[in-house]
Formats: sequence, C-alpha cells, structure tokens
Amino acid sequence: MLTLGIESSCDDTAAAVLDQDCNLLSSVLTSQDQIHTRFGGVVPELASRCHLESIVPVVNEALNRAGTTLQKIDLIAVTQGPGLIGSLLVGFSYAKALSFVNKTPCVGVDHMAGHILSVFLEKKHPDFPFIALVVSGGTSSIYRADSFTSFTLLGRTRDDAAGEAFDKVAKLLGFPYPGGPVISREAESGNGRAIQFPRSWLEKHSLDFSFSGLKTAVLNHCNREKQKNKPLNIPDICASFQEAAVEVLVEKTLLAAAQQKINNIVLGGGVSSNPRLRQVMKMRCANEGKKLFIPRPAYCTDNGAMIAFAGIHAHRKNSDFSYDMDVYCRSVLT
Ligand code: KG4
Repeated sequence: MLTLGIESSCDDTAAAVLDQDCNLLSSVLTSQDQIHTRFGGVVPELASRCHLESIVPVVNEALNRAGTTLQKIDLIAVTQGPGLIGSLLVGFSYAKALSFVNKTPCVGVDHMAGHILSVFLEKKHPDFPFIALVVSGGTSSIYRADSFTSFTLLGRTRDDAAGEAFDKVAKLLGFPYPGGPVISREAESGNGRAIQFPRSWLEKHSLDFSFSGLKTAVLNHCNREKQKNKPLNIPDICASFQEAAVEVLVEKTLLAAAQQKINNIVLGGGVSSNPRLRQVMKMRCANEGKKLFIPRPAYCTDNGAMIAFAGIHAHRKNSDFSYDMDVYCRSVLT
C-alpha cells in the first residue's frame, strides 16, 4: 500500500510517499521563505498563489522520486487544517481532484496530529502514552497522546506562538523572516544570562504559554539601549531571549509530564529544531528520568511525510471522506 501525503497549511508546499510499513520513499518540499522574507512574515495571499504554482510539480516530483505513479497510490492524505485558509484550500482541493479522478481514497489530516506523530518517521520512537510539545510559527501547544488518533490538548499559547515570537524578535532586530534560525545562530556567540528577560509562567500549574510579554521586553530593552546611545549587543539579546523562551517551554512540558504521570516526551514543530531547546530539554529530561524523543530537523518543520503517516492512521480509524468537506483554520484537537 502506498500513501501520498500533501501539506500546504502555511508557506511550504510539501509532498511525500510512504510504503505499507511507513518507510519514507520520497519527500519533496519547496519553501517560500525567499518570497516572504522582505515582508518580515508570511503574506497569506502570496502564500496561496505560490502553493498554486508549486503543488503540481512538488507532487509529481515526490511520485517520481518514489518510483511510482498516481495510479499506484492507494491513499491520499492531505492537511485539512489548521492553517491559512487560502493555503490549505490549494492542497485540499488538489487532493480531492486527484482522488476523484483516480478513484483513490482520501483522508483529511489535522496538521497538529502530523507534528505530534512525526517522531514515528524515526526508528527510535516512544510507546503510548506520551507528552508532545508542538512548537511552530503558528502554535505552541502541549498534548497528551494516547494512540495514533487520540490526543488531548493540555495547554496552548494565549497569544504569540513560540516561533512567532522568534520571528517578531528577529524582525525588530533587523533580521529577515524566518527569524528562528537566525536568532539561534546569533545566540551561539552570546551570553544567555546577560539580560534577565521575563519568564511568563501564568497561573500556578498552568500549562498555557504567553510569549507576547517577552517579545515586548526585548523591544523595551532595545529602545532603552538606543536612548542611552549604546550599541545593541545582538548575540547577548538573542541568547537571553532564547534562554527565556526555552526555559518556559521545557519546564511547562516537564510539568505536564509530572501532572499526567507520563515518562515519554516528544518534540515537534519548526521551533523544535532549535539546538538550545533540544539541548536543555535533553538535560532536564535526563535529570527527571524522562525519555525524550526528537525527530531530525527535517521532520520537525512542515513536511508531507508526517501528513502521510498521520493520514494512514486517521484513515484506519475512519474512512469516511466526502468531497464537500472543507478546510478549517483552528485546530480541532481539544
Ligand atoms: O513548523 P514550521 O515549519 O511551520 C510553520 O509554523 O509554518 O515552523 C516554522 C517556525 C518559524 O517561526 C521559524 O522561525 C521557527 O519555526 N524555527 C525556529 C528554528 N528553526 C525554525 N525557531 C527557533 N530556532 C530555530 N532554529
């Protein structure tokens, strides 16, 4: 059985093919970073236009590299939401059309389920249940996963997503979009304790996040330094900001694991490719006796393989699909 996964929820057009044992036969992705970088963030209208241009070549390339054709595909798994409506519609409508023409079963996949399960694309993966921290440009959420199709939302951001905070801080420091990789690179030569930026813990025992205060604290720091005519120490600002964000992400994830009495922890989403987050999470998990599973960076960011994998399991549970199904912008995993 071959599954084609299609992902177009934000600014990456991606497709992948998995075989019956969920081995990855191909994975293709085009990034729109070059398009959005001059605007300092993703422009939804441009994103959907780029998906329109890329979707056919990306899917064809994924099929070619897997050495197969559409006619041999047994299941089409496609991101249904959450994400940018215009972007989602491109992938979802294309998948429906392929399914209709080739009479291939289709399944709509929740993007968050893809991130939670992306660790199963690796040989080393956890048993259920596990706690998943999903951190990307659009979300920062903690889930409890009990099976391939059963997820409980334990906490989420009340304002900016972690990746959004990285992107906004990068923008105010004059760096291009996406900001996360630039901030983590700059932070390598900085001192994470140089500036004491706030950690937003919210109410006691809360697993929710808030990153907008941290972003404002960086802005205020930069303005104060400029008023004193002092040059900005960019590496120290990046390292101190990153340290504050990472500490909250790590401690809240460990709190969730303690509250749920769960030993396995998983990371997913673009921000989980951040080296400092991976390092601190590893150290803290080792201290707390927790087992940590992190996919390689290419599986952390948006990709078609995680959608194919989540789709196989979603389809096994429920194979109802109708062509009048629609995309959605907010996650349905609650
Ligand atoms: O999951 P993802 O590829 O998709 C979207 O949410 O669209 O995540 C992209 C996000 C961006 O906000 C980007 O700045 C962030 O992940 N990111 C990082 C790093 N690499 C990507 N954030 C912090 N450190 C990184 N090394």
